[in-house]
Amino acid sequence: MASLGQIIFYSMVTLIIVFMTVIILILSLALTVGSAEVLSKDKMVIANLGEDALLSCYLNSDSQNAQQKDVSVSWQKTGVTGLVYQYEDGAPTLSDQNSQFKGRTKLFPDALLSGNASLLLRRVRGSDAGEYSCSISSSAGGGKVDINLRTGAFSAPSFKFSNGVLTAEASSWLPKPNVTWSHNDGRVLSGFTNFEENSAGIFSLVSTLQPVNVSQAYTCSIQNDLVTAVSTATATDSDVSGYTYFIYSAASMPFASTYLSIMATVLCMYSTT
Ligand SMILES: *[C@@H]1O[C@H](CO)[C@@H](O)[C@H](O)[C@H]1NC(C)=O
Ligand SMILES: *[C@@H]1O[C@H](CO)[C@@H](O)[C@H](O)[C@H]1NC(C)=O
Ligand SMILES: *[C@@H]1O[C@H](CO)[C@@H](O)[C@H](O)[C@H]1NC(C)=O
Repeated sequence: MASLGQIIFYSMVTLIIVFMTVIILILSLALTVGSAEVLSKDKMVIANLGEDALLSCYLNSDSQNAQQKDVSVSWQKTGVTGLVYQYEDGAPTLSDQNSQFKGRTKLFPDALLSGNASLLLRRVRGSDAGEYSCSISSSAGGGKVDINLRTGAFSAPSFKFSNGVLTAEASSWLPKPNVTWSHNDGRVLSGFTNFEENSAGIFSLVSTLQPVNVSQAYTCSIQNDLVTAVSTATATDSDVSGYTYFIYSAASMPFASTYLSIMATVLCMYSTT
């Protein structure tokens, strides 16, 4: 026979378990219903002046059934009156668009069907740099994401080799970069670089390294605070081969990247539950 005390004890335990189950159910419902959120593949965009830039913004939802008609999108830029772009009721609504962006912006209507509101900004200008925000609302959920756009100029150098002199020529850089040479065995070498600034304030450069040994590989790094172009060049008797890759800086906003990695951790935990 269970004593009164035991009955009360087990009733309490049962009640507690029931309450906890209910709370967990409510929490998981709250997390799944309307859970779509707005994300960006790249919140620190570096754009090359005169070229097009894609500002990524999309609704991350499991149910990809949001109809184009019920998605509305608003792109804004801090410190700019009016809008960068707006999409409502199945069509662009550009009456409030700031003239700075006129004829230079577009969304991707097909992608919008699945909640992708990425903005293409054409022929990027220096004045486009700044903080953008993308807001999406739809039946599947919504939200806002901020994207930082920095502008500059960068181009891969071309290489020449004659009489033991290796020459790198790059046509457009901004801000003014520095150039460093090294041998692939790690030794830093001293080259000589000459810069020229054009009427738009953009730099071209010619950098020479000598003497250079045929069949050995040399690295030329052209760097400013936005981008580093790392090139490897190898001269033969008659020719020179070179290839370049770009490293985009994210370092000027350490807090943003810490925040991003924390967010990523949270999102991982979130998606595994
Ligand atoms: C969104 O659309 C753009 C343009 O088609 C595409 O480049 C990008 O990868 C898409 N992003 C996502 C998350 O699907
Ligand atoms: C060229 O090769 C010689 C012999 O291997 C080496 O001592 C010298 O440092 C090399 N020069 C350069 C610029 O790499
Ligand atoms: C080159 O420029 C970058 C960015 O401005 C700077 O961080 C770096 O220290 C410079 N390197 C040299 C060798 O001057």
